Amino acid sequence: MSHLPAPPMSALPSSGFRLTKEHFLVAVPVAVIAAAGGFLVSHYLNSRRCRKSQVNAFVNKDSPKVVHSFDMEDIGTKAVYCRCWRSKKFPLCDGAHAKHNEETGDNVGPLIIKKKDA
Ligand code: FES
Repeated sequence: MSHLPAPPMSALPSSGFRLTKEHFLVAVPVAVIAAAGGFLVSHYLNSRRCRKSQVNAFVNKDSPKVVHSFDMEDIGTKAVYCRCWRSKKFPLCDGAHAKHNEETGDNVGPLIIKKKDA
């Protein structure tokens, strides 16, 4: 099997389209700009997607960190705390995790703290 040299561009069947040096001088910067633009758009969309996946949808959003503290003596015999961040009574559970689980396929539930004999 012999390898024949590639025919010169001008020997190809004429389609009326020829790549010249000037075409490459335009095509290369356009390709680089398109690749950079694609990267920037992808990066922007990924950063937006991360914002959508925030756990806290509405609890004290103006605060840099949501922290609740309770004294054990004040809890009483039983306390049920929200871990899904969907409760309208946050940090206490109001049962909103059931709807969240149904809508998302998640399996979150509350943290229940109770005295042993309660
Ligand atoms: S409402 Fe969030 S865990 Fe129950």
